Amino acid sequence: MVLIERRPLGVFLLLCFFMLTATARAADQTALVQLVEYVGADYVNAVQDGEIVSEAEYAEMDEFTRLLSEGIATLDDVEGKQRLADQAQQLEAAVDDKAPEARIQELAQKIRGTLVTVYGLPVIPKTAPDMEKAAQLYQTHCAACHGDEGRGDGPAGAALEPAPTDFHERARYMGRSMLGLYTTITGGVDGTGMAAYDDQLSEAERWALAFYVGGKAVSDQEADAGEQALRGTPGLKADMTLDTVIGKAPADVRDEIGKPAVQAMGYLRRNPEALFSQNRFIEISDAKLGEAAGLYADGDRAAARAAALSAYLDGFEMIEQQLSAVDSDLMRATERRFMAVRQAIEQGEEPAAVDARVAEARDSLAAAEDALGGDGLSAAATFSASFFILFREGLEALLIVAALLTFTRKAGARSASRHIHFGWVAALIAGVATWFAASTVISFSGASRELTEGVAGLAAAVILFYVGFW
Ligand code: HEC
Repeated sequence: MVLIERRPLGVFLLLCFFMLTATARAADQTALVQLVEYVGADYVNAVQDGEIVSEAEYAEMDEFTRLLSEGIATLDDVEGKQRLADQAQQLEAAVDDKAPEARIQELAQKIRGTLVTVYGLPVIPKTAPDMEKAAQLYQTHCAACHGDEGRGDGPAGAALEPAPTDFHERARYMGRSMLGLYTTITGGVDGTGMAAYDDQLSEAERWALAFYVGGKAVSDQEADAGEQALRGTPGLKADMTLDTVIGKAPADVRDEIGKPAVQAMGYLRRNPEALFSQNRFIEISDAKLGEAAGLYADGDRAAARAAALSAYLDGFEMIEQQLSAVDSDLMRATERRFMAVRQAIEQGEEPAAVDARVAEARDSLAAAEDALGGDGLSAAATFSASFFILFREGLEALLIVAALLTFTRKAGARSASRHIHFGWVAALIAGVATWFAASTVISFSGASRELTEGVAGLAAAVILFYVGFW
């Protein structure tokens, strides 16, 4: 018995180890994103017109840029890491030279962009932030320092040095990503009045607050213009993926996409629920597929491949679970068609063949949209889908445990039933622990979610295989 229990335990421990290292790496990377944003935003307090205005701030810039380089050196070796290291070197040198603020911001922006494209986003909100809740939380936790309107003029903040941030300050707004704000709220800022809120507020609450304060500098007109732009500007919706809205600052999208993207980002920060609608994910998927076909026809295979992957990860993948609850065959068929598009691109087939694969994937997407009924699953449908899965699995587990107990009793090996009871109790505890870890400690996005699904699937297969033999 002991022997039997040990091996699946080994697999389980291996899985835990894998998850923990993945989390640690994501945390490192989040810290780097925060570090580089700080350098970009605070450099103006250290150097002006090539002169040091504050020795202390300048020393901090020096330290932060060095920490950045060191941190990047510890990241996994992947393609693009060298580019990142070079950019960090340039930033260090620029701070040494007391370069103009514009140069520092440009470099900081580049580094953050590279970090996100090379290593993916470390964290991402899992559900639409609740903005009403955020407004209440803000008044109870934050207004005393940051002011009722977020202008940095709260009574408790008056004596603080540095002063609490004025969230309406446009220059700062342009340079801060949602990820950067979320990280600050989560970890606080050492040596200032800004405390870490990771104990007091849940992950979802911190994201909601990040959106809340991150939208303060957006005027009503700008938000309206953004909504119009999202509707009227071809391709803009597909460009404003969740990753982009979370990982990039307004200044990044201004430089990379253009002014309408800044307005669109303003709208989406104030109305994040628009980011999480199923229709939106389907539209993004559809647009990215079209983009992939176009790029491929133009001979840009690498970009076509990236667009096809994004069509899946930033679009369809986000609705896969809901779809599988209503029509799992359709879900799998669509998944296969997305893969066929990627394979056709990979294998360098004729553009017409790629077009055909894209058209098929789009048909499946349209079917998925119908199946989800536009607004997605009703609460009742979600409930019944989840209920039947739990019921089926629970019944199965119950039957196995009952069969094992009967067998040991009949065989007169009563002492063995202890192990069986230990087994199901341990399974319950492990289940709760996994649920807890998956919903609070670990966050998965894009490729890392796929990877985790794959590893967990393999581990499950190994265990079942083993149990089957036993
Ligand atoms: C005790 C006063 C105090 C409270 C309460 C407080 N903050 Fe802060 N906060 C600060 C100070 C001071 C800074 C500026 C730190 C700096 O300049 O490095 C700051 C900075 C920030 C920043 C960084 C802004 C940027 O652009 O870099 C964010 C985001 C933020 N606070 C959000 C919040 C939220 C959300 C709450 C409530 C949950 C909150 N703060 C509560 C004092 C406070």
